[in-house]
Amino acid sequence: MARILFLYHGVYGHTLKVSGVMRDELVRLGHTAEVRPLVDGPRDAATFDAIVIGASIRHGKHNPAVYAFIEEHRALLDAKPNAFFSISLVARKPRKNTPETNPYMQKFLALTTWRPQLLAVFGGVLDYQRYGPFDRHAIRFIMRLTGGPTDLHTNVEFTPWDEVRRFAGRIAALAEGRVPG
Ligand SMILES: Cc1cc2nc3c(=O)[nH]c(=O)nc-3n(C[C@H](O)[C@H](O)[C@H](O)COP(=O)(O)O)c2cc1C
Repeated sequence: MARILFLYHGVYGHTLKVSGVMRDELVRLGHTAEVRPLVDGPRDAATFDAIVIGASIRHGKHNPAVYAFIEEHRALLDAKPNAFFSISLVARKPRKNTPETNPYMQKFLALTTWRPQLLAVFGGVLDYQRYGPFDRHAIRFIMRLTGGPTDLHTNVEFTPWDEVRRFAGRIAALAEGRVPG
């Protein structure tokens, strides 16, 4: 049985939700897992068998706090099985839904020298009514450019939950010292 720590950074709770689904899947597989905000810092992170960082995209970027955390705790990350996943609306698109084809994941890898052992990208949530006027219009503009929903009543989750659970299974394999499928 492995203990796995999820450290997430998000704004409206979806990265937390994705982390929670992975935690539940790991528990189902016989492991223990905890989900914590990245900003809580590592505390007892050294006592876990694997560390997973998850972060969402806001206005084209992962939050600088994510990069700062990785820089500061790089030795801790490198000492354990580790993984990173990124949540965005762009990742809903079939040609941008893999680490290799997703521009935000590629940018992430260009901005850090950390090379997580497992990577994933997942589509996030579009919920216009939750955003303030500026964000609503900015996101609607992006949706118009990328062929997404522009109806201001849209509230949709683009997250492929089966893939999220499959990724959790790969994390379990990594934490157990097996080769992830
Ligand atoms: C203010 C704002 C800006 C966003 N900017 C982008 C963006 O530039 N590209 C993108 O693909 N998704 C963008 N998104 C979509 C988020 O990544 C998506 O809603 C995700 O589910 C948010 O997860 P969170 O609730 O954990 O922050 C944006 C969302 C918000 C609210």
